[in-house]
Amino acid sequence: MRVPVIAGNWKMYKTSGEAAAFVRAFLPLVAGVREVEIVLAPPFPSIVAVAELVRGSNVTVSSQNVHFADEGAYTGEVSPRMLADAGATHCIIGHSERRQYYAETDDAVNRKIKAALAAGLTPIFCLGETLSQREAGSTFDVVEAQLLRGLNDIPAKEAPKVVVAYEPVWAIGTGRTATPEQAQDVHAFLRGRLKGMWDDAAESVRILYGGSVKPDNIATLMAKQDIDGALVGGASLAADSFAKIVKFK
Ligand code: 13P
Repeated sequence: MRVPVIAGNWKMYKTSGEAAAFVRAFLPLVAGVREVEIVLAPPFPSIVAVAELVRGSNVTVSSQNVHFADEGAYTGEVSPRMLADAGATHCIIGHSERRQYYAETDDAVNRKIKAALAAGLTPIFCLGETLSQREAGSTFDVVEAQLLRGLNDIPAKEAPKVVVAYEPVWAIGTGRTATPEQAQDVHAFLRGRLKGMWDDAAESVRILYGGSVKPDNIATLMAKQDIDGALVGGASLAADSFAKIVKFK
């Protein structure tokens, strides 16, 4: 049984004060939820405040990026050790916006995932095809390459700690969700490739779907066998809509 993960990626939204107001409104709405890992990913400056507010609750905190070194002369970057110290338990790695706007490569993603695992953080490893790649019929080739390169040299014993997020780029922020069938096809394919790499341990990997997840489409997505949760952007910014997604059952 894979415990579902519902993670809210706030991207570059919310000041610390706005983040705190969200958490105060959100915690009572999800207080009774068990057997779902609930994750909030605020921008870096709010991680400490959010982590302090959720301490002792059923909600955990993620960053949206991480560097692969422990420390060093890397202006503007934040290390896994610093994130753990700030109270984060997860970090989003390889989001398509970072790949697109900050030239993040599969190799950098791989180094970041290894560094996160070494620091005891759960990586939420994002991958997904663009619209032109889907239309060219290369979705499976693209996600396979991203998966294998991103997880290169990571042993099967780490599998339970790895979360994969399939986020088709054409579905992000567009209101155009992948159909549950389209998502399940890719998730099943990814699970198969994970099995090729990690054998039975692949069964423990949570594979999330991301891209225009909303309160009204989460249940049909979650009904699919290989969809183990969601990475939510826009609909995670309001406490009531994100709480509805968390309470998808
Ligand atoms: P939206 O839910 O706004 O489409 O964003 C998805 C996403 O990129 C989450 O990481």
